[in-house]
Amino acid sequence: MDRKLRFAIAGAGVIGRAHWERMRASGRCEAVAFADPSPGAAVLAAEAGLPLYPDLEAMLAAERPDGVVLATPNALHVPGALACVRSGVPALVEKPVADSLADAARLADAVEASAVPVLVGHHRRHSAILGAACETIAEGRLGKLVAVTASATFHKPDDYFEAAWRRRKGGGPILINLVHEIDNLRALVGDIVEVQAFGSHAARGFEVEDTVAINLRFANGALGSFMLSDAAASPRSWEQTSGENQAYDHHADQDCYVIAGTRGSLQVPTLRVFEYSGAASWWNPLARSRVELHQSDPLARQLDHFCAVVRREEPPRVTVRDAMRTLAVTLAVAEAVRSGTNVKVS
Ligand SMILES: NC(=O)c1ccc[n+]([C@@H]2O[C@H](COP(=O)([O-])OP(=O)(O)OC[C@H]3O[C@@H](n4cnc5c(N)ncnc54)[C@H](O)[C@@H]3O)[C@@H](O)[C@H]2O)c1
Repeated sequence: MDRKLRFAIAGAGVIGRAHWERMRASGRCEAVAFADPSPGAAVLAAEAGLPLYPDLEAMLAAERPDGVVLATPNALHVPGALACVRSGVPALVEKPVADSLADAARLADAVEASAVPVLVGHHRRHSAILGAACETIAEGRLGKLVAVTASATFHKPDDYFEAAWRRRKGGGPILINLVHEIDNLRALVGDIVEVQAFGSHAARGFEVEDTVAINLRFANGALGSFMLSDAAASPRSWEQTSGENQAYDHHADQDCYVIAGTRGSLQVPTLRVFEYSGAASWWNPLARSRVELHQSDPLARQLDHFCAVVRREEPPRVTVRDAMRTLAVTLAVAEAVRSGTNVKVS
């Protein structure tokens, strides 16, 4: 059997710890070092019994890992990934891939000009639920896709807003939460080419939005409406319906997306399907069924995939260029709220 791959983690914060826990449980890779300049990182490094470097470049030079997980703040994703590419070390970069489209494009160009694979950490692409939903749509059971009704309505606790940046523009649910949802919808339905959006901060009164109503036009002609709120006492969010992260309150009977085509519709994540067997007509019965599913941890599956990427057995499932398109739609929603106009996604 192949030896375990040696991975390093840059950024020993919340998600850095989650990646380390998956590596500890993995039979295919192991964590060998952390890079993080903050004094707090020493706690995790000591618990893991691993060396801690104050910066990524020093760690790359000393450890020569097989791969690096970049779990650093957003602004450091592109410089960190470029350093990995220069060193010839594959990287798993946390989402969002970059702060701006220009930076994302700079990284995409550098990766494509190199032989070094970079995977972006949109971990829900490794979700068994999302995979089964994508397969159901790809089988053609829904017919031609027509309409998407989706939501991420949840309530963040008051103490979340003690950090001042979360009360200001840019610290809200569009850039923090919607980026995951847009990536899911792109995987399920296809590319999004135009958006409209209304934003409101009426619930909390902070500068940042707390609620956003969004319209989406997909390249295949389907239309979508998305309700986003972090001030809504509602379980209709991926976190609370999917049960993939047990830290959240779980509502297994609720859905956050309904995807409707000309022959049937699919509810996600319960994977309930309503479909016509004969002529599609509101007078005829819509048969109900449910897609079978074996739940698994998307972060662990993402790590397994990263191992295959590092070994050059599989191409990255989420490339920098792909993640850049998700970022472009998310930024377009922010721009639509700001400008009050339709925004085309280039
Ligand atoms: N996939 C997901 O569901 C998910 C969940 C949470 C966070 N994230 C993403 O992961 C990233 C980190 O988020 P977090 O919540 O873990 O943040 P965090 O603040 O808990 O951790 C970030 C860590 O990076 C360290 N750091 C800062 N500068 C550094 C540098 N130059 N080199 C190395 N380390 C440095 C910080 O000291 C801190 O320990 C963000 O981009 C975030 O969007 C993704």
